Amino acid sequence: MLWQRFTERARKVIFYAQEEAQQLGETQVSTEHLLLGLMRESDSVAARILDRMGVSLQRIRNEIERYLTRSEARYGAEMQLTLRAKRVIDLAYDEARQLNNNYIGTEHLLLGLIREGEGLAARVLSKLGVTLEAARQVTAQIQDEPRTPPSPAPKRPKLYHPRLSEYLESLVPPRPAILQAMEAHARATDFPIVGPMVGQFFYLITRLTGATRVFELGSGFGYSTAWFALAVRENGGGEVHHVVWDENLSQQAQEFLRGLDLLDIVRFHVGEAVQTLQQVGGEYDIIFCDIDKDGYPASWQVVKQHLRVGGVALYDNMLWSGRIWDDSDTFAATQGVHELTRLISEDSDFTFSLLPIRDGVLMAMKLR
Ligand SMILES: C[S@@+](CC[C@H](N)C(=O)[O-])C[C@H]1O[C@@H](n2cnc3c(N)ncnc32)[C@H](O)[C@@H]1O
Repeated sequence: MLWQRFTERARKVIFYAQEEAQQLGETQVSTEHLLLGLMRESDSVAARILDRMGVSLQRIRNEIERYLTRSEARYGAEMQLTLRAKRVIDLAYDEARQLNNNYIGTEHLLLGLIREGEGLAARVLSKLGVTLEAARQVTAQIQDEPRTPPSPAPKRPKLYHPRLSEYLESLVPPRPAILQAMEAHARATDFPIVGPMVGQFFYLITRLTGATRVFELGSGFGYSTAWFALAVRENGGGEVHHVVWDENLSQQAQEFLRGLDLLDIVRFHVGEAVQTLQQVGGEYDIIFCDIDKDGYPASWQVVKQHLRVGGVALYDNMLWSGRIWDDSDTFAATQGVHELTRLISEDSDFTFSLLPIRDGVLMAMKLR
């Protein structure tokens, strides 16, 4: 019986998948619920594989959530696997067999989900550049490595002297309690925010330029928005646009920014960020872009069109944890960072600098 070969973690994933389906009011467990279940085991081999492939669990979760429809939760309901989800389990078994593993672990479930090819989980993974071939290679690599006890080492390759970030962060002035609560929330949920160092830098740029109109693309639960809005308020007031495609994150942002008394400055939009900028229109003093990196190149035309002359475009993650120096990295996100860097450096209407703080912030001023 297949189930007996499941590792403890793989069993938990199936249990979580059932919970996810129940919470969404579904009657069956589909591939997307299996993937959501897999994302909840953040210490698993599957999580390590995805991390090594440069795809964060939060990102996968966010991406799936875009396609989910919610109805009333059905707690206690009996949950069967859909035919596709059953096929994922069969494929996981087959992947384990091919690797000569006599157990079915989270890594095999991940491979099964990719290989199934047609379900929502496979489509999301493929969109994020997770291919079967690459995932198989990374799985084999990880299985070949000697087992080491979990280390507290950061996931990112070290770009800087280990004490640099700590030192720079210690120089950021004391922050309101709500900003600190947002930082704690990001740590607890493993959510990627720009962090205090970059936040303080955005505050400085906004004050320096006297900006009163800021548009932000990819705002999460509003941490970077808060820094811009605090500065705009000091500049005498204006508007900061918060855009994220996830309703839930937008609600969280409204709660946090209410706590900072910034609701009169921030305008909230739920939707795809580049399209929203086009729809809302207008000219801005600052446009900050922090959307999925594969979308960076296509954002550039729209961002530059909506900046006033003398205005500043800001892009985060332009060092992409050092992956920009890895010639074998063909992920869409890494290529997106490369392509945007090229577009901006060849754009004679702009002058720019790439600042090596945290994961790299590119700052470009519109000259004409
Ligand atoms: C890296 S997080 C950054 C959050 C925010 N800038 C901060 O530092 O606090 C990016 C957020 O934007 C969302 N996102 C990514 N691409 C997007 C897009 N094209 N349109 C709307 N939201 C997007 C992600 O789901 C995530 O919530």
